[in-house]
Amino acid sequence: MNVAIVGTGYVGLVTGACLAEAGHFVTCIDNNAVKIGQMREGNLPFHEPGLQAIVLAQLHGGRLRFSTDLTGGTQQAQVVMLAIGTPSAADGCANVDSLLQCAKALADTLDHSCVLAVKSTAPVGTCDHVQSFFDARQASVPDAPRVDVASNPEFLAEGRAVDDFRNPDRIVIGAGTAQAAATLSSLYAPFDPDGRRRLCMDVRSAEFAKYACNAMLASRISLVNELANIAEKMQTDMRSICKVLATDHRIGPDFLRPGAGYGGSCLPKDLRALIRTAEQCQEPAPLLRAVEEVNQRQVRLLFDSIQRYFGGNLWGRRIAVWGLAFKPGTDDVRESPSLALIRLLIDAGAAVQAYDPVVCASIPKLASRPGLELSSSAAQACRHSEVLVVMTEWQEFAEPDFSALAGSLESGAVFDGRNLYRPEQLAPFHLQHFRVGQKVRGNPLAPGRRAATPVHSCP
Ligand SMILES: NC(=O)c1ccc[n+]([C@@H]2O[C@H](COP(=O)([O-])OP(=O)(O)OC[C@H]3O[C@@H](n4cnc5c(N)ncnc54)[C@H](O)[C@@H]3O)[C@@H](O)[C@H]2O)c1
Repeated sequence: MNVAIVGTGYVGLVTGACLAEAGHFVTCIDNNAVKIGQMREGNLPFHEPGLQAIVLAQLHGGRLRFSTDLTGGTQQAQVVMLAIGTPSAADGCANVDSLLQCAKALADTLDHSCVLAVKSTAPVGTCDHVQSFFDARQASVPDAPRVDVASNPEFLAEGRAVDDFRNPDRIVIGAGTAQAAATLSSLYAPFDPDGRRRLCMDVRSAEFAKYACNAMLASRISLVNELANIAEKMQTDMRSICKVLATDHRIGPDFLRPGAGYGGSCLPKDLRALIRTAEQCQEPAPLLRAVEEVNQRQVRLLFDSIQRYFGGNLWGRRIAVWGLAFKPGTDDVRESPSLALIRLLIDAGAAVQAYDPVVCASIPKLASRPGLELSSSAAQACRHSEVLVVMTEWQEFAEPDFSALAGSLESGAVFDGRNLYRPEQLAPFHLQHFRVGQKVRGNPLAPGRRAATPVHSCP
């Protein structure tokens, strides 16, 4: 099948590369000429495990090409997909301006019938709006082609996007006509040979399903964080409690690690947009608001515990931060809790040495803010730092050399923002371990260390 994808970011490029790998002929279009130039050379504008090899193979095999030309790139496409960003507007609504502008341009130029599938996460009614452009053209221009607009939300997760796309939990197709549903079903057939992953529904339900999914995930994270905050105050151990939760088949094991909260380019903005949608239809949505509030509090709680460790004053303190990406496997720092924490630390007068295995290489300009220095290794970030804060659970941070860490950190405290370590791993090295949901045990400072008025509760 001939496919054009407009918007070649995290979603568009993974989709394009994987569809090409499955045998389709794909043109990935973007209005960012620099990105397109890079991708033509086989260089990706972002980090995604396994993606570059597919892009290179499909470029050389001739099934994948890149273009900045919307009109030329969509010619002959049986399916045109929109994977354009829908960031938060100032009021929290999803900003669909670029998506609508692009759809309008397509309505004015497409010269053949096709299915236009909206992959972007966009509020209920967006596809109807897009369909109205094509219907208006059909009503006013004789021989204008019939274009069916469908919703085809994407559920891949950055860091494992290729695997997610190749082996999707489900393929959601929201179509108003049987023909559009059939076209999209055959597009995805290589990923769903027995048709069991395909969920067909009306367009508006498909649009809402994506928001519902992200709301459920965000709620789960905030709930486990809130439980952990209470567990900590009750001198109980959330790690043990999570084992109990995980073994209940109705609850399951995923997303049960308390920490510094969620970030990224999807959950925060999609939750905000859903809350605005609820307001627009006079639904108070108190639970969704609380999910957002709990999440915003998590970074603040971590900051408070660090500040308290230093006796309430962070001025002149040197703090190492491991992890900048909002989660492992990606260089995406959009709404990263790590950056939010670093901002708080710097504003309070601390100097931060940060290290991230991929972000430091791909976004060196991050370090242009005063008070933040990017380090070339995890060990270097800790040199001359007093304490360490772990903000992204990269595999590289899972089993550090605790002895070397204890030797580097002047105050010997680790603030474990992702619940990565067990207390018994750090205790032999006299490293104090602070984590959300921890049963508080005071670890004595190693002799000779500069005490920083430690308190043994977090926060
Ligand atoms: N990133 C994810 O993990 C993920 C997962 C599921 C769904 N989504 C949704 O998919 C959509 C895209 O997300 P993303 O993370 O890929 O965004 P992104 O910012 O990485 O990519 C969007 C791309 O669209 C391009 N673009 C913007 N306007 C354009 C136009 N008029 N013409 C051509 N190109 C244009 C941009 O240059 C950019 O390359 C969003 O709605 C997002 O919520 C994202």
